Amino acid sequence: MHPENQTLETLRFLTPEIARDIAERHGTPVYIYDEATLRKGAGECLAFPHAHGLTVRYAMKACPNRRILKLFHELGLHIDASSGHEVERALAAGIPADHISLSAQELPRNLGVLLDQGVLLNATSLEQIKTAGMLRRGSEIGLRFNPGLGSGGTNRTNVGGPASSFGIWHEHANEAAALLRTYQLKCVRIHTHIGSGGDPAVWQRVAGLSLALVERFKHVVALDLGGGFKVARMRTETGTDLQNAGAPVKEALENFAAKTGRKIHLEIEPGTYLVANAGCLLSTLQDVVDTGKDGYLFYRLDTGMTDVLRPSLYGAQHPLVVIPRTAAQVPGPVREVIVVGHCCESGDILTPAPGDPEALSPRPMEGAEIGDFMVIEGVGAYCASMSTRNYNSFPASPEVLLSVNRNPVLIRKRQPVEEIWRLEC
Ligand SMILES: Cc1ncc(COP(=O)(O)O)c(C=O)c1O
Repeated sequence: MHPENQTLETLRFLTPEIARDIAERHGTPVYIYDEATLRKGAGECLAFPHAHGLTVRYAMKACPNRRILKLFHELGLHIDASSGHEVERALAAGIPADHISLSAQELPRNLGVLLDQGVLLNATSLEQIKTAGMLRRGSEIGLRFNPGLGSGGTNRTNVGGPASSFGIWHEHANEAAALLRTYQLKCVRIHTHIGSGGDPAVWQRVAGLSLALVERFKHVVALDLGGGFKVARMRTETGTDLQNAGAPVKEALENFAAKTGRKIHLEIEPGTYLVANAGCLLSTLQDVVDTGKDGYLFYRLDTGMTDVLRPSLYGAQHPLVVIPRTAAQVPGPVREVIVVGHCCESGDILTPAPGDPEALSPRPMEGAEIGDFMVIEGVGAYCASMSTRNYNSFPASPEVLLSVNRNPVLIRKRQPVEEIWRLEC
């Protein structure tokens, strides 16, 4: 790195040598996940403070590759699924049905089959309670509530409060209780996920509100506070300290037990915390263009919103690190650049202003030449799983897991381009 610019982002777990080797074997763009970081995150989540037992569920929507699901299963994590299809994907990866909890906006048509296998359901609306009641009268159920406030890194990732359709509005608790009686359902779990990357203080307030709901429903034995723990992707950001976040929750659970005699099991559902900084995307700089002396200098990559949508969607910030094509090359002087993707779409941009996908924000980075590599860090969560895959008919990129002994293992092949039109008829 140039000594004059200590603010440049640096590689998290890759080395230039490993990056060049993976590019040689698998081409670019390619997602790379680091097993050691995944294991470390799982250990931190399993150490989350609790009073009467803890279940950590991996929110698989963040990065649902089978290898990652299996790794977390081996480490003792359970699964949070957001659709019936995610449930089937987890089952196909060998996750036991009773380790999977489903909290979905849309219930699957085969819900009865999944419930019979042992999948746990959190109903997220009054209608879902009815559906579950008609299917399995007299069974146990979880209820997802919108506790009245939420918090997210952006409005788009806030899923609590009056502007969010997620969960049963807390003021409808009486109607929910009436439906439980109608169908003789027993609510054993309360669930309140309020957003991703939000304010830890709000998260803790919601823990208190959630316990009020637990008190209201007498059969509840578990409280699931969802995920939402912010991580620091950029070096200027501050991530959540899970011990700090959990300490007041533990105390609240202890006080609740002292007051009511009910020892509530705690569940958390991190996605981002477990995988975000365990993944990067290795890409190639394939063109450099500019718009004159009053304009911008643009680096065009061989990736973009087809692999990493978060900047275009939320104005999310991801570290960008240049790796010269060969070890002999010296990086050029630091320049202010706009980094853009390969799609024919002006919104395909990797350096938007923070929180504002409409605005361009030039980033200082080491000078690069066409053919050099660009590593996009912090892409382990909501990138391979949440992108404009196949837009402009770009095939999905492969995924590689860097094992603890630093061996790159291919865990998903590059999509052959013919696959994109294979189902057309
Ligand atoms: C119900 C539920 N649980 C957990 C999560 C994981 O959130 P995060 O990735 O912020 O930890 C989400 C994310 O959308 C969610 O909807």
